[in-house]
Amino acid sequence: MPQSAANPTPVRILFVCLGNICRSPLAEGVCRHLIRQRNLEDRVTVDSCGTGGWHVGQPPDARMRSTAERHGVSMQGQQARQFRTADFERFDYILVMDRANLRAVRSQDPTGRYADKVRLFRTYDPEPGNHEVPDPYYGGTEGFEKVYTMVERTCAALLDAVVPA
Ligand code: 4NP
Repeated sequence: MPQSAANPTPVRILFVCLGNICRSPLAEGVCRHLIRQRNLEDRVTVDSCGTGGWHVGQPPDARMRSTAERHGVSMQGQQARQFRTADFERFDYILVMDRANLRAVRSQDPTGRYADKVRLFRTYDPEPGNHEVPDPYYGGTEGFEKVYTMVERTCAALLDAVVPA
């Protein structure tokens, strides 16, 4: 449920990708930046994680961090962690970057109890497309810039939707 006078508790959003070093930590950093800009700190909280555990404890990918910094967004202090089943209770919105992430998260909810919370992040993107954020990990710099553009646009629309003015 969007946050509102009728629902005054802060909305809790979790972004999920595969490694938690590129896409979902970027969404977390961009959203936190927008939350500060919009003075929404009391209305929404954000976190991120990966479906895989290879990078647990690591900071975001240096290429992702420098792309974010070029746009004035700091990813300082962020550290990769893996998705766990307790996250289904700890968050209101569990927003995944691609369909493989969607399958991985859904596989941890075999009864579908939390199905309403789990969806593709880019279903909030106002621009048409396949609703996935492509993995930039194995590509060049322009892939990181493209990911930044779609993540920023989608985070802005997401906050409009879940914390209406
Ligand atoms: P992310 O990107 O899911 O956006 O964090 C990846 C990072 C690392 C790997 C895959 C994707 N990896 O295989 O190590």
